[in-house]
Amino acid sequence: MTRDVKHHLLFECATEVANRVGGIYSVLKSKAPITVAEYRDRYTLLGPWNRASASVEVEELPVPDPHLKKTLDSMGERGIQYLYGRWLIDGAPRVLLFDLQSAAYNLDDWKRDLWNNTGIPSPAFDTETNDAILLGYLVAWFLGEYSFHNQKQAIIIHAHEWLAGICLPLCRKRKIDVTSVFTTHATLLGRYLCAGSVDFYNNLDKFDVDAEAGKRGIYHRYCIERAAAHSADVFTTVSHITAYESEHLLKRKPDGVLPNGLNVVKFQAVHEFQNLHAEKKEKINDFIRGHFYGNLNFKLNNTLYFFIAGRYEYRNKGVDFFIESLARLNHRLKESGSKMTVVAFIIMPAPTHSYTVETLKGQAVIKQLENSIKDIQNSMGKRLFEFCQNPTFSQTSSQMELPEIDDLLKPSDRVLLKRRMFALKRDSLPPIVTHNMANDSTDPILNQVRSVKLFNTPDDRVKIIFHPEFLNANNPILSLDYDEFVRGCHLGVFPSYYEPWGYTPAECTVMGIPSITTNLSGFGCYMEDLIENSTDYGIYIVDRRMKSVDESINQLTDYMFEFVEKTRRQRINQRNRVERLSDLLDWKRMGLEYVKARALALRRAYPDSYNNLSNHENPFESGTNIKITRPLSAPGSPGDRYTEGLMTPGDLGTLQENNSADYFDWKLAGGPSDSEDQDLTLRGVS
Ligand code: UDP
Ligand code: G6P
Ligand code: GLC
Repeated sequence: MTRDVKHHLLFECATEVANRVGGIYSVLKSKAPITVAEYRDRYTLLGPWNRASASVEVEELPVPDPHLKKTLDSMGERGIQYLYGRWLIDGAPRVLLFDLQSAAYNLDDWKRDLWNNTGIPSPAFDTETNDAILLGYLVAWFLGEYSFHNQKQAIIIHAHEWLAGICLPLCRKRKIDVTSVFTTHATLLGRYLCAGSVDFYNNLDKFDVDAEAGKRGIYHRYCIERAAAHSADVFTTVSHITAYESEHLLKRKPDGVLPNGLNVVKFQAVHEFQNLHAEKKEKINDFIRGHFYGNLNFKLNNTLYFFIAGRYEYRNKGVDFFIESLARLNHRLKESGSKMTVVAFIIMPAPTHSYTVETLKGQAVIKQLENSIKDIQNSMGKRLFEFCQNPTFSQTSSQMELPEIDDLLKPSDRVLLKRRMFALKRDSLPPIVTHNMANDSTDPILNQVRSVKLFNTPDDRVKIIFHPEFLNANNPILSLDYDEFVRGCHLGVFPSYYEPWGYTPAECTVMGIPSITTNLSGFGCYMEDLIENSTDYGIYIVDRRMKSVDESINQLTDYMFEFVEKTRRQRINQRNRVERLSDLLDWKRMGLEYVKARALALRRAYPDSYNNLSNHENPFESGTNIKITRPLSAPGSPGDRYTEGLMTPGDLGTLQENNSADYFDWKLAGGPSDSEDQDLTLRGVS
């Protein structure tokens, strides 16, 4: 059928639409402004209706498009509940969220259908898979009806991650007239294999994928992921390293890489972000005063805040490396007699019961002390004022007399102050963890902290605070949103082993905070490719590919030690340099790869209509009018080779119809090189 390719519609489907879980939420949210600018009301995000988060993130709207209305009315008649509205974020994109439970009466039929039509099994009690099936069938149902009502415009469905991928094999099986893009943000097998003790990167081409998935009880999930990758018109990943992994584990070479960007907001005043650092650091200082009450034997002025944050994936996110290198750093700082203290935060959600009494008490006693001092200051001020209103002169000279401290600080004030100071006495050390953990004795982070003996003793130069919950300004302690916290810190440390992209160091960069990442993370590889000496720019990259574990941990320790030795002036300069890199991560630049992926999907599905587009409507042909602004000011800019003309970040392995892209040569040194030509004809479900 011929459809209008130029005014095509875009549906983007993911489980993290208006529902924060991890990095995919960050992709969708930060990308919304440029996608809405391009598509206006032709763009809609699809996902499951999570009532708790949608109630604060989505504003309901009437359904404007008559085709959409007809489709949703018909689904509604069959009991499907949905929320159509505006996601309350920058760009305010339209969202359509389906209540999965309202479709649950179909689950058995849909599972049977999935098995009969695609051969994908689904065990009874895997609720995550059941939800993926419900979402996939709802989206395929929706697209089938919608494309029937609206026969004019071409439709792109872009699905993210296996959880939102089932609609793709269904669309293909049912021959629904849409074209599709599938982006995987990680592979299931990759995540599972790395979380164990497998030499992952050196064996990527050797794994018996079905057997490995079977052993881990995820064969059915793996089938869904693989089916989505194979039935999409265009298959993409977020980094070259994950493209290489997908090729081996999912058995389809991605058509290209869609690196993740951020919505970079520039301040009017260049130093605004530096002021924000000082302001937010003061808030962290307040928390530290409470947490270390009675033990604050270090100067906050000489204290640096390091942190790791993200989903709790102990080995994949490199928490094991972080804790071990903190222990080594502690030793080195003690040995060198450093006057600096490092407080290292670990922000990773784990099952907990509540804040510990000790944590709450710490904040309370410091607050009380502060309040009592304010009261005493007030009454001392009043007394001083009264005293000065009636000046007395000494009898021997005409000199005026000033009040004695006892005239101002009354006995009752002294008693109150002493009581408050007594309350600061404690017999225990400042706690490592802020919450009562559900699995305290088996928690890997706590166990490693115990084994390296970082107990926050007074002579430790490195202190640890584990906050097993994401940050939120409404929390009773450490009341900061995550981005405020990042701004107040000095260094983000993300020594990941498995990290397809890794938003956390990227977010540090745009906020002007230096960070440590690895050459096994998508972000780390991306920066390494773009910048000649990234360490100068406050992006430290630990080599986890070529070095032994011990050498990598030492390198991480060296980086942290080197950072601690910097003067304040050097830290300020480094923050300025980091912040200048933010243009490299702006969606205005990164978004071009998404444009190309969609163009490729349209071209594959509607070659005739697509080829009739004039050159300037075709991102593959319009070489001269896609100009990327020069991102950095000289001197000291990263290599100019990436700052001019058509080059975009993804050009390292950019999306193109005949994909002989460089990233297929991406390999671990000494690892396999695969130059086999890839058959780009559309594949059926494998
Ligand atoms: N994050 C958050 N609150 C926190 C800690 C982290 O919202 O307290 C966010 C952070 O901003 C980042 C995301 O969690 O966008 C983690 O994404 P990343 O790509 O680093 O890892 P993923 O969890 O997707 O593997
Ligand atoms: C910002 C502020 C400075 C402050 C500095 C503290 O740059 O603009 O006024 O001195 O932060 O830096 P530090 O690295 O010691 O937290
Ligand atoms: C995944 C990956 C993470 C990536 C995110 C967004 O959750 O684990 O590395 O940044 O998706 O693409």
